[in-house]
Amino acid sequence: MQKVAIYPGSFDPVTNGHLDIIERGLNIFDKLIVAIMHNPVKEYLFTVEERFDMLSTTLKKFKTVEIDTFDGLLVDYAAKRKAQAILRGMRAVSDFEYEFQMALMNRRLNREIQTVFLMTGLRWIFTSSSIIKEAAQFGGNIEGMVSPFVYQKIKEKFGRKD
Ligand code: PNS
Repeated sequence: MQKVAIYPGSFDPVTNGHLDIIERGLNIFDKLIVAIMHNPVKEYLFTVEERFDMLSTTLKKFKTVEIDTFDGLLVDYAAKRKAQAILRGMRAVSDFEYEFQMALMNRRLNREIQTVFLMTGLRWIFTSSSIIKEAAQFGGNIEGMVSPFVYQKIKEKFGRKD
């Protein structure tokens, strides 16, 4: 049986930290479904189409990665896609409480689906979409923290031409 995991997130935008987790996840699972959360009440910098586009371009070399979008409950989506696991990256202790709470809630909602945590590479320990957006917004250099394609998209979003 194929081992399939859902790697869910906002991916607003995808960072090299996400990429690191995807590469690690591919060593364990036969297939990863990178699932972009589409929550109509949440404000994102990028539209779901833009986030999809950035993920497709960044992940095009991975043949066993599929990109999709979802709304509603993650466990319902995972069951619909016949995934056995939810993959989440863990950076520092600060991630732990939120991730723990979410994993236990998801387990309560569906006991068949396991959450698997992978530690991100040390160099990505402080990387997050939010911190990257914050730095980029005020002209900070975020090169090397996202793929070149995403770097361009962020620059366009904040109206910088260089
Ligand atoms: O990249 P993020 O913002 O940390 O991802 C959070 C995400 C999308 C994984 C989480 O908000 C989620 O799963 N939302 C769907 C609703 C849901 O099932 N929530 C968890 C149980 S209440």
